[in-house]
Amino acid sequence: MTLSAVEAAPKAELHIHLEGSLEPDMLLALAARNQVAIPYANADQLRAAYDFANLQEFLELYWAGQSVLRTERDFYDLTHAYLARAHRDNVVHVEAHLLPQGHTPRGVPFGAVLDGALAAFDDARHAFGITGGIILGLNRHESQDEAPAVLQSAEPWRDRILALGLEGPEKGNPPSKFTRVYDQARDWGWHLTAHAGEEGPPDYIVEALDMLKVERIDHGVRCEQSPALVRRLAEQGVPLTVCPLSNVMLKVFPALARHNLRRLLQAGLCVTVNSDDPPYFGGYVNANYTQSAAALGLSMAEQRRLVRNGFIAAFIDDEQRRRCLHDLDAAWPSP
Ligand code: HPA
Ligand code: ZN
Repeated sequence: MTLSAVEAAPKAELHIHLEGSLEPDMLLALAARNQVAIPYANADQLRAAYDFANLQEFLELYWAGQSVLRTERDFYDLTHAYLARAHRDNVVHVEAHLLPQGHTPRGVPFGAVLDGALAAFDDARHAFGITGGIILGLNRHESQDEAPAVLQSAEPWRDRILALGLEGPEKGNPPSKFTRVYDQARDWGWHLTAHAGEEGPPDYIVEALDMLKVERIDHGVRCEQSPALVRRLAEQGVPLTVCPLSNVMLKVFPALARHNLRRLLQAGLCVTVNSDDPPYFGGYVNANYTQSAAALGLSMAEQRRLVRNGFIAAFIDDEQRRRCLHDLDAAWPSP
């Protein structure tokens, strides 16, 4: 099968939840390995449950599925499988969300989560040449009083973590809850991002920028409700890590053909394309690109811009950015 230019191009993926890359087959295998009871007999039954009215319905199934993740080996296997799959989509740089707070209440050691995932990143760098790192996530619906302890637990790994992120149910959980921990992470030299404007209002995007001082916004598609905010995001070059198939599966848009990705791109925003939780939403990053391109009629130049934006938005140094952009130019020359 010949690949389209966008499928063949070297790409960055900046918005993927490692827990959300858990394929049904691996979920069942880990349930058996760890003797965790789950209410599904096979992968088809699991896939049939992937039908969501909104973010909350998805999160409840997603959290239940994560109960099979118990050991450092599990986090290694999960991360390794995702990175190998991303490599097949010609992803060369990955910044992946990981949420220890979603696992430690089950008695999983904080270190098992991080060491497993980090070891898989180390191995993928050697095996596939994939670079990248971990965005340590906070659950926004948990009390803000818990967040400093999460950061404290992460202290021994502070030099190996790339960024701080914020995820979970958005409505009613504004970014302003987390100002103090974002200050701490900034002091440690971490990059900063947050989910905002997926289901929540444009005000949450403004709060993430002004109070958390994030460098990019995860999702952010609801910025369009505020023309002033769209202008600000364009003028300040704030990247959005957009996940088109996720947005359709969680009813943020009624269909891919109604997604605002192309309008945001045309408004001058640094839009990037990502997969969020691929097995749950029906596709890895190449599927997000090709299905969006088909549904929205994206030109080759627009598709190339989206890929290029991934490297512009990545938390990498100037030298690596130059190399990535050079490799993209070589693989897919500018028209
Ligand atoms: N939004 C919020 N939290 C999440 C998501 C998402 O799309 N995916 C996994 N956790
Ligand atoms: Zn997400």
